[in-house]
Amino acid sequence: MSLLISLPESMGPQALCSALLDLEPGLKIMTGHKNVQNPDEVEFAVVWNHPEGLLLNYPNLKAISSYGHGADGLLADSKLPEGVPLVRLTNETMAEWMSEYLLAVVLLQRRKLLQHAENPGFVEWGTAARHPGNQLSILGLGYLGQAVAKVFLKMGFDVSGWSRSRKEVEGVSCFSGNEALTEMLIKTDYLVNLLPLTTETTDFLNTETLSKLKHGAYLINVGRGQTLVEEDLIPLLDEGQLSGACLDVFRTEPLAEAHPFRKHKKILITPHNSSSTPADSVAPQILENYKRAISGRQLLNLIDLAHGY
Ligand code: GLV
Repeated sequence: MSLLISLPESMGPQALCSALLDLEPGLKIMTGHKNVQNPDEVEFAVVWNHPEGLLLNYPNLKAISSYGHGADGLLADSKLPEGVPLVRLTNETMAEWMSEYLLAVVLLQRRKLLQHAENPGFVEWGTAARHPGNQLSILGLGYLGQAVAKVFLKMGFDVSGWSRSRKEVEGVSCFSGNEALTEMLIKTDYLVNLLPLTTETTDFLNTETLSKLKHGAYLINVGRGQTLVEEDLIPLLDEGQLSGACLDVFRTEPLAEAHPFRKHKKILITPHNSSSTPADSVAPQILENYKRAISGRQLLNLIDLAHGY
C-alpha cells in the first residue's frame, strides 16, 4: 500500500518524497501519477493542480491532502471520489513566510521606500517619510490571518480582522458580517486579503467594497485572485481611492505578459510566492495524516465541505 505525490515540478515533489522517507524509510511512495503501476495500491494522495478526475482512478484511497493551506484547488475538481475525506495543510513556517512578506510590503509603503528607489535624486534631506496610518485589517482570520495579526501587533499596528464567523483573537478587533465589514473598512490603511476562495468570497473585493476603505488605503492580495474583480482595481488606483496595491495572486496564473496590472505604476506584482510549502516542515503532518487515514482515525485539518475550506 502506498502514498501518491502528484505535484507540479515547481512544487518539488522529489523534495517531499525525500522528506517523507527521512521520517519513515520503509514508506512506499509513488511520485507522479504517471508512475503509478498499480492504482489499487494508492491509499493516500498529496496533490496540487492535479488533473480533474485523477483521484477516481484509485479505488482504495483513504484520504486526499492538498499540498497547501488552500482547499480551493482540490475542491475545484468536480470528479472527486465520493466519501473520501479531504485535508489541507496548516504550517508554522508557511505562516512565518507569509507574515514576513506582508511586513516587508507594508513597511515599504509606510516608509515610502519604493518612491525613493524610483527617485534617487530626491534632495529634501530630513523630510518626514512615514505614512501616519496605523490600521491594518485582515480579511480572513484563520491560521494564517491570526499568525499575521500577531506579527503586526508586535510591530505596534492597530490590527482588525474580519471573518465569516466571529473570532476572538487577543489584541485584534474582530468583525464579522456585512455591517461590521463597512465599520472595519472605513478605518483601514492597509487591507490584507487572506480569505479562502469559496462561492461567497469570489468577487468580494470590488468597487463597492474597496470604496469603503479609508481614502488612500493600500491593498494587498495574498489570498486568491478570484476574490478581486480585476477590472475594478485600476480605476480605484487612478482616482486615488487606493494609494497602491500589491498582488501575489491572480484570476489566471501565471499573469499574462500583456495584463494591464504589469504596467501600472501603483501595482507591485509577485508570482504567487508570498509563502510556499516547505517539504521538510510539512512532511510530519502529511505522514501523520497518512497513518491516521490507513488506521481509520480522525484526520488533522479536515476540509469543511459545507463551507468550502
Ligand atoms: C497557497 O496558495 C496555499 O494555498 O498554500
